[in-house]
Amino acid sequence: MRIILMGPPGAGKGTQAVAISDHFKIPHISTGDIFRHNIKEGTELGKKAKSFMDQGLLVPDEIVVAIVEDRLKKDDCQTGFLLDGFPRTVPQAEALDQALEKMNVHLTKAINIEVDKHVLIDRAVGRRICKDCGATYHIQFNPSNSGEACEKCGGKLYQRDDDNEETVTTRIEVYLKETLPLIEYYQQKGILVVIDGQKDIDRVFDDVVNVLRRDQ
Ligand code: AP5
Ligand code: ZN
Repeated sequence: MRIILMGPPGAGKGTQAVAISDHFKIPHISTGDIFRHNIKEGTELGKKAKSFMDQGLLVPDEIVVAIVEDRLKKDDCQTGFLLDGFPRTVPQAEALDQALEKMNVHLTKAINIEVDKHVLIDRAVGRRICKDCGATYHIQFNPSNSGEACEKCGGKLYQRDDDNEETVTTRIEVYLKETLPLIEYYQQKGILVVIDGQKDIDRVFDDVVNVLRRDQ
């Protein structure tokens, strides 16, 4: 199963991606997570990516595409994968098509999680992440049972640098301009699935699994 997960910032891609990859036993590849890992490690890639991410802008296509192409060559991706937050532009989608063609495979589904704009800002600004295991919480919609600490590992929860209202607003604008055309792109290929992301986390997950089960 080869899936891409699309949707605006705060739509719930990361939350659902963790559960979907666990359910279908396919690797979860998040370009945002790859960049944040590199920023934490202080790599050259991390320094470059940070300058764009802090402003809510997209990292240039050639950088992102090279990373994803490399990742898709790894053994664990040969039977399936879940891409979270990639592609985000038409050139990225075209590059992905070419990479898959070389692998002689095609995408199973492109899932778009839809959520109203005002909800997106509340979700992103209230998001908290565990610094040790990466688990995602929300101060109101999905709080940790351990308060300020992660309920899974006890790690400290932090807020992403780009989760302030101003940067989230820019990220939504960038999404509308650069990423929205991909809906049409995948609709034309006949693999687009639209999911209502405003339901509870568990209901959204059930809806996604029901759609994907038909393709197993
Ligand atoms: P990335 O990390 O991909 O961020 P994003 O797309 O802005 O998405 P988010 O992580 O903000 O949201 P999400 O949809 O994963 O929501 P989540 O599940 O956490 O990218 C960050 C940056 O990296 C980009 O701005 C760009 O600079 C760069 N980048 C990454 N990929 C790139 C690419 N391909 N090309 C170029 N640049 C790239 O949920 C949000 C919150 O809501 C959480 O608190 C969660 O608990 C809560 N929540 C989730 N679902 C629900 C629900 N159903 N009900 C109530 N609350 C919910
Ligand atoms: Zn944790």
